[in-house]
Amino acid sequence: MIGRLNHVAIAVPDLDAAAAQYRDTLGAQVGAPQDEPDHGVTVVFIDLPNTKIELLYPLGDDSPINGFLAKNPAGGIHHMCYEVDDILAARDRLIDAGARVLGTGAPKIGAHGKPVLFLHPKDFNGCLIELEQV
Ligand code: CO
Repeated sequence: MIGRLNHVAIAVPDLDAAAAQYRDTLGAQVGAPQDEPDHGVTVVFIDLPNTKIELLYPLGDDSPINGFLAKNPAGGIHHMCYEVDDILAARDRLIDAGARVLGTGAPKIGAHGKPVLFLHPKDFNGCLIELEQV
């Protein structure tokens, strides 16, 4: 059901410093910061030949990233995003299997303008999973 690894997201305490490190030290293609108010984050995407890295920084006081950075002040891997062909079919199959979908269960529009859902990390070996319909 899942397809390509779309991106690995890393929560960072300093977005400019992290973007500069990927651009200047690691020599990657680094995009411009984008605010995603629906998700409470500012993101920077880094294009790698086989996937992307999403740098996440809190946007607003109720950002879901605030708590993560409080527990991981140096930053850390926040989620993996896998591609699916049909997000509603994927969601229904996962719910039937007992997995928990975060929020209302309805897909939201993600950073690439495509529908996304998040799955509870306790159901997936401690890893928050994002599904993106491509
Ligand atoms: Co993501």
